[in-house]
Amino acid sequence: MKLSFFTLSASLLGASAHPKPPKHADFSLVGFAKDNPLGPTTGGYHRYKGETVTVTTPAALISAVNGTTPRTIYLSGTFNLTARLAIGSNKSLIGTRKGATILSKGLNINSQSNVIIRNLGIRGIIGDDGITIRNSTRVWIDHNEFESGGFPALGPDTYDGQCDIIRASDWITVSWNYFHDHWKSSLVGNSDALRDVDLGHLHVTYHHNYWRNEGTRGPAGRFGHQHIYNNLYEDFLYQAIHSRSDNQVLVEGNDSPNTSPDGDYELDGFANLGARNDWGPATINITQVGNFTRVPYIYKLTPLKEMAKVVKAGAGLGKI
Ligand SMILES: *[C@@H]1O[C@H](CO)[C@@H](O)[C@H](O)[C@H]1NC(C)=O
Ligand SMILES: *[C@@H]1O[C@H](CO)[C@@H](O)[C@H](O)[C@H]1NC(C)=O
Ligand SMILES: *[C@@H]1O[C@H](CO)[C@@H](O)[C@H](O)[C@H]1NC(C)=O
Ligand SMILES: *[C@@H]1O[C@H](CO)[C@@H](O)[C@H](O)[C@H]1NC(C)=O
Ligand SMILES: *[C@@H]1O[C@H](CO)[C@@H](O)[C@H](O)[C@H]1NC(C)=O
Ligand SMILES: *[C@@H]1O[C@H](CO)[C@@H](O)[C@H](O)[C@H]1NC(C)=O
Repeated sequence: MKLSFFTLSASLLGASAHPKPPKHADFSLVGFAKDNPLGPTTGGYHRYKGETVTVTTPAALISAVNGTTPRTIYLSGTFNLTARLAIGSNKSLIGTRKGATILSKGLNINSQSNVIIRNLGIRGIIGDDGITIRNSTRVWIDHNEFESGGFPALGPDTYDGQCDIIRASDWITVSWNYFHDHWKSSLVGNSDALRDVDLGHLHVTYHHNYWRNEGTRGPAGRFGHQHIYNNLYEDFLYQAIHSRSDNQVLVEGNDSPNTSPDGDYELDGFANLGARNDWGPATINITQVGNFTRVPYIYKLTPLKEMAKVVKAGAGLGKI
């Protein structure tokens, strides 16, 4: 299936300063990163073995994220990386105050488990992803900002994905992030040739993310299950949500003004609509209704009429 969304009227664009988060916004971990067969994602928290460290330089950061010792790492300032950051298991990376900044090279979570990334501004990662989650389980990507600038003039391939989840990764929650001004946002499953690797994995919950001024993939999934609820979409050039190659999405309570049915083509996946969405003038093209109609966890839908306000106020940096 394809869900498509049109260009939104200019009046809804340019949301600048975020208001204070509404009281009833729940910032705790919800979804597949919490409720899954391996146990909740705790990152660097460990009752007995957990360490805490604050880093201000790339060298200190590179060293702190290495290995599998449980460690909570507070990032203060700007980290202009010269190589991708390889994050080990059992880590929380948390930007201080208004958020820390990651520039030039992005983050890898490769063959690891139990990682939390919060309050980081990940900007302008040329030719590669902001975050790549590969062959990894239990990851929570929360309250970050991803943007690149130069959109759409620089085209789809100057940068790569903002947060890509690939190679049988599983049990992931992507919540309260602000994704904007970038072509390819979040790809789940990176090839239609990886059926044997990916099928049965790639369970991802996307909720309360704010997507604005993007090309496509909010998200696009293959071979997995994505629960996509209470996200706000403003201005996608192409498909905002795209399910393909035996993928299943459960899409509910989203607010989306808009797109075009164009974009990536491939064998259609499945889509299920749960609680009511507000698509505005968007085109919705569901070619195969699937069987992913319920999720094995408890979650609370923000009422549709409050969605845009709550997401704009709660998503992105400086909120946790
Ligand atoms: C990470 O830790 C391993 C094992 O202790 C060590 O061999 C390696 O050099 C470390 N890498 C970095 C980037 O610190
Ligand atoms: C980041 O580092 C690159 C070189 O690796 C440099 O060209 C660029 O100007 C730096 N950016 C900032 C904001 O310091
Ligand atoms: C995937 O990660 C596991 C560790 O969780 C590792 O043993 C395995 O070799 C990795 N597979 C690939 C293809 O990277
Ligand atoms: C940390 O991660 C490793 C690899 O995922 C896991 O086997 C181990 O139990 C974890 N250690 C602690 C103390 O939680
Ligand atoms: C819906 O998608 C199918 C298959 O991808 C395509 O053939 C069809 O033209 C689309 N319909 C609309 C209205 O876009
Ligand atoms: C759900 O649908 C898929 C695709 O048709 C199928 O492979 C799978 O077996 C179905 N699952 C259940 C539980 O019926």
